Amino acid sequence: MQKTREFHRQSIEERESFWRREAQRIHWETPFKQVLDYSKPPFARWFVGGRTNLCYNAVDRWLDTQGDQPALIWVSTEVDKEIVYTRADLAREVNAAAAILQELGVVRGDRVLIYLPMIPQAAFFMLACARIGAIHSVVFGGFASHNLAQRIDDAQPKVVVSTDAGSRGGKPVAYKPLLDQAIDIAGHAPEHVVIIDRGLVPCAMHAGRDLAYAPLRARHLDAHVPVVWLESNEPSYVLYTSGTTGNPKGVQRDTGGYAVAMCASMEYIYGGKPGDVYFSSSDVGWVVGHSYVVYGPLLNGQATVMYEGTPVRPDAAVLWRIVEQYKVNALFSAPTAIRVLKKHDPELLRRHDLSSLERIYLAGEPLDELTGQWLSEALDKPVIDNYWQTETGWPILSAQPGLEEVPTRFGSPSFPVYGYDVRAVDESTGQDCGPGQKGVVAIQPPLPPGAMSTIWGDDERFVHTYFESFPGRMLYSTSDWGLFDKDGYWYILGRTDDVINVAGHRLGTREIEESVNTHPAVAESAVVGVADPTKGQAAMAFAVLRAPDLLLEEGARDRLEAEIKKIIEQRNGPVARPARILFVNSLPKTRSGKVLRRAIVALCEGRDPGDLTTIEDPGALDQIRATL
Ligand code: PRX
Repeated sequence: MQKTREFHRQSIEERESFWRREAQRIHWETPFKQVLDYSKPPFARWFVGGRTNLCYNAVDRWLDTQGDQPALIWVSTEVDKEIVYTRADLAREVNAAAAILQELGVVRGDRVLIYLPMIPQAAFFMLACARIGAIHSVVFGGFASHNLAQRIDDAQPKVVVSTDAGSRGGKPVAYKPLLDQAIDIAGHAPEHVVIIDRGLVPCAMHAGRDLAYAPLRARHLDAHVPVVWLESNEPSYVLYTSGTTGNPKGVQRDTGGYAVAMCASMEYIYGGKPGDVYFSSSDVGWVVGHSYVVYGPLLNGQATVMYEGTPVRPDAAVLWRIVEQYKVNALFSAPTAIRVLKKHDPELLRRHDLSSLERIYLAGEPLDELTGQWLSEALDKPVIDNYWQTETGWPILSAQPGLEEVPTRFGSPSFPVYGYDVRAVDESTGQDCGPGQKGVVAIQPPLPPGAMSTIWGDDERFVHTYFESFPGRMLYSTSDWGLFDKDGYWYILGRTDDVINVAGHRLGTREIEESVNTHPAVAESAVVGVADPTKGQAAMAFAVLRAPDLLLEEGARDRLEAEIKKIIEQRNGPVARPARILFVNSLPKTRSGKVLRRAIVALCEGRDPGDLTTIEDPGALDQIRATL
């Protein structure tokens, strides 16, 4: 552990020389003048004055040495297709996409919203935006019209790139009607929508606004679009994430800091080198997809596998089949996927030659000990738990085998990663906790390169949401509970707020409650996350009806439950649909009107609800108990 500790110490105590050295990993068109400008805490500006470009570093920079090597390997078990794009092919597609955006009037600083499934065009358009200095905002395909409309209004994209449909379990899932609905609801109207027609479902085009991708691409296939060099701190993308309010936060990422952080992490954490093959099974709509399907591997000269499909179709060996076929060196997945695989025949893990695979990385939700152990024994490969957030863009806690192999402990994402001065902090006193003491996981700013620079359009919210949680100290709060033991291993103990994590998907309960409350029969509701053996957590909704007598009608309960679920599916998407909607006469609240969510969760999980001295109406909890 010596090396990991020393490296971490340097990154904090000799911050400038540390990052000056790491910055040499990328091409700077103009060298930076200052490593860090921290004159306006907590805003950190990295590599000030340096000009660079993410697309140039991910694509053009590797053309000489790796032009004919695989760069993007697309595997779809949904439509049974596989395409290998070399770096030269990728350059061609990205230039065409950039030329399309330019033709539609997109210039530096404009936003482009990308609402796509796991198809290569998602990466083409992300990189195309980066090439011309436009800011992309990718919206997860599992989200629906309401979520999409909120993001359209906040990001105000000039152009939206979407498709007729995605596919799940071999069945098409239409995207275009949801997008049309979202644009109808939104106050902001994008000038153009580019539609990648996959021919999966019929797709109505809106004359004047919607354009088909195929003819545009054909026209621009030989385009060469010059790279726009951006100052290191110009935004590269905005990615929305859920918090405690109904309004998602646009996490804003810079350019130079992100490029440096991505390349360094690919080596130190993921053990990668140029020419290696990296496979992250995450969706591009989430942060793992941004950092480790698209940017990280490509910036570091590695090939990336982009997978459209589930881990169990055509069978539960599909991930391993891909590893064997494309000689994958590192696989990044989520604990949920592994818990699903655990239900299948373990022989499936031994069917393929996995000799290329060095390690497996899991993140996004707590990795329970049993799942971690099962996987590492079944595959006889190291399993590395890494802990981070949309906000940070890359791991906060992780073993760093590219630096040094250290013994890992199941249930622990190991140690603070270089760049992050991590503390466990007592919520009420703001003091650092000692070993074994539970506190809020916090980071002493400045945040390292690549971490969020602000909330899109709302510096004040950035400061307030993340840096004003502790009395007398300006620390970044992760909103996770955690502790470290006497050997320095960290453990994450769940969220401090109302954010839940369903199958690795980060969801805001407030956003779901707002949807439940739009049903005309509902007066109020509470949505909580309850432990689930496969998904980690499942959402459960408790609704109070305006007229409780409604439930006396035959079949009313089932009908209402189905109607509310449908609303959630249409507004927020299938990922947000609660496992159950239960009806109660009142919600347990404190005298000041705050819903006692922890007590509800405890009852749902069959635990003691704890101290209830502040409860206004104890009958409310009794009814929840009875309903369950
Ligand atoms: O609660 C933590 C949990 O997921 C949250 C961040 O989710 P998201 O913004 O979607 O970013 C995921 C990036 C991998 C965290 O606040 N979380 C993430 N990784 C872990 C985790 N909880 C426990 N162990 C982890 N390894």
